[in-house]
Amino acid sequence: MEWFESWFDTPYYHLLYSNRDYTEAENFITKLTQELQLPQSSKIIDLACGKGRHSVFLNKLGYDVLGLDLSQQSIDFDKQFETSTSLSSSEPTLRFKVHDMRNPIDSEPVDAVFNLFTSFGYFDDEKDDRNVFKSVYNALKSEGFFVLDYLNEEYVTKNLVPETTIQRGGIDFHISKKIEGRHIIKDIRFEIDGEPKHFFEKVKLHTLETIENYASECGFERIKIWGDYQLNEFQKEISPRCINLFKKK
Ligand SMILES: C[S@@+](CC[C@H](N)C(=O)[O-])C[C@H]1O[C@@H](n2cnc3c(N)ncnc32)[C@H](O)[C@@H]1O
Repeated sequence: MEWFESWFDTPYYHLLYSNRDYTEAENFITKLTQELQLPQSSKIIDLACGKGRHSVFLNKLGYDVLGLDLSQQSIDFDKQFETSTSLSSSEPTLRFKVHDMRNPIDSEPVDAVFNLFTSFGYFDDEKDDRNVFKSVYNALKSEGFFVLDYLNEEYVTKNLVPETTIQRGGIDFHISKKIEGRHIIKDIRFEIDGEPKHFFEKVKLHTLETIENYASECGFERIKIWGDYQLNEFQKEISPRCINLFKKK
């Protein structure tokens, strides 16, 4: 099993990142949707939606949302939010499905696809990275948007904190981070009832150029890069995020 298939499917992942909550997601989505000016009822796919924090809020804003994720546990949790909020339609306007982003997306053409909070860069084979871009491209209407919220490799490398311990829900998560080749590796160790547990995250340090190449190969145009969740301009040296806005040509 690949690391991203097991780790994200555990309750410990959700506990460790529980400070990344709905408020953070809502503030970001409010700013992002204002920028994109998508009309109400636009169709949006939240690709790698996790526990649905962005999907649920997008739906509250009036969008028709499909949340997709590889983690069965997350999708089972998300299913509780699946309701029809549109008065004019009996179809639910918020749905969730298990889906591997390397595969083609089975949906009607959509207005936007969001891939948020570093949900990319997990695959060893470049072909898989390219397949993600292709699947997104094919799922979009012409002129549709793709938002890829990714890490800023330069910032991550410069600001790496090698060792930390984070306490959540009575568990001490001991975290060590290192750069190995073109990857950032986050090693996560903790104990449950005296039993040691060990997981890791391994994310590729894609450059702006690589991301741009993947996108342009498919026919995307990059129209904007923001550097943080307040949507300030991207600055390579100081921006914590690299939030790419692509448009299908
Ligand atoms: C860092 S989390 C972000 C989750 C969510 N976007 C958020 O901000 O809360 C990454 C997510 O990617 C999902 N994921 C990992 N590999 C995937 C794949 N091949 N296809 C679809 N989802 C995947 C994980 O299950 C996890 O929910």
